[in-house]
Amino acid sequence: MSLYFSKRTLSVVLSPEKPLPEVDLWLVLDLLRATTTLVTFFSLGGKRLYPVATPEEARELQKILGEKVLLMGERNSLPPEGFDLGNSPRDLSKELCQNHPEAVMTTTNGTRAMLKAAASRRLVLAASIRNASAVIRACTPFSRTGILCAGRYGKAALDDTLGAGYLTDLFCRTFPGAVLEDGARIALWSWQRQAPELERAIHLSEHVAILRGQGFGEDISFCCMPDQTREVPRMGNERGHPCFERNPS
Ligand code: MLT
Repeated sequence: MSLYFSKRTLSVVLSPEKPLPEVDLWLVLDLLRATTTLVTFFSLGGKRLYPVATPEEARELQKILGEKVLLMGERNSLPPEGFDLGNSPRDLSKELCQNHPEAVMTTTNGTRAMLKAAASRRLVLAASIRNASAVIRACTPFSRTGILCAGRYGKAALDDTLGAGYLTDLFCRTFPGAVLEDGARIALWSWQRQAPELERAIHLSEHVAILRGQGFGEDISFCCMPDQTREVPRMGNERGHPCFERNPS
């Protein structure tokens, strides 16, 4: 008689240009700031968010979806021309998200990672530190979880690596005995050397320096606040486009 035990595994992809491993579920993470902004949009009442690759595509899609749809995102940390908002989660309010529950988003690295995960045709959830416990709980039914870090220009980024380490730590405490692939162990060990203050841990990252230099220093504290919401947006498909929606569970 052969017994088959399906082990729970966690992979972390630190450099998003690499081919993705086979998993059952992707958690996409762009700590600073795209997935934090996305999760905040839903926590304030947003209902649909379409990630797209370029500002041109975003403007085209808004034309199809209608003027009421918010154009959000950044290039060089700032809103592209004609956009309603940049990529600062602190620019969102309940009033804005409830009156404009649909949005199109394009960012330099974050939305690319979202679209890459969507192409895997696996379940994709938006991860951040602000929904950390909820997003890790949502992994319960799945044997093979992956965290896809947005990184910077295809390469690993310190902020996302430490953020993924934070989530890996939570994953191991939620699912004792989980098997970590090398990327997950690298993220976990990097985090454990710096824990428990995520904001302090990421202060030497290139991305933090850029955001501070452009006057977005307060976004960093906002992005590092754990468990502010239970909202875990999931990727669906709407009118033929990948689109994050409210998670029914
Ligand atoms: C990105 O997608 O590269 C980031 O979210 C950039 C930013 O901080 O706005």
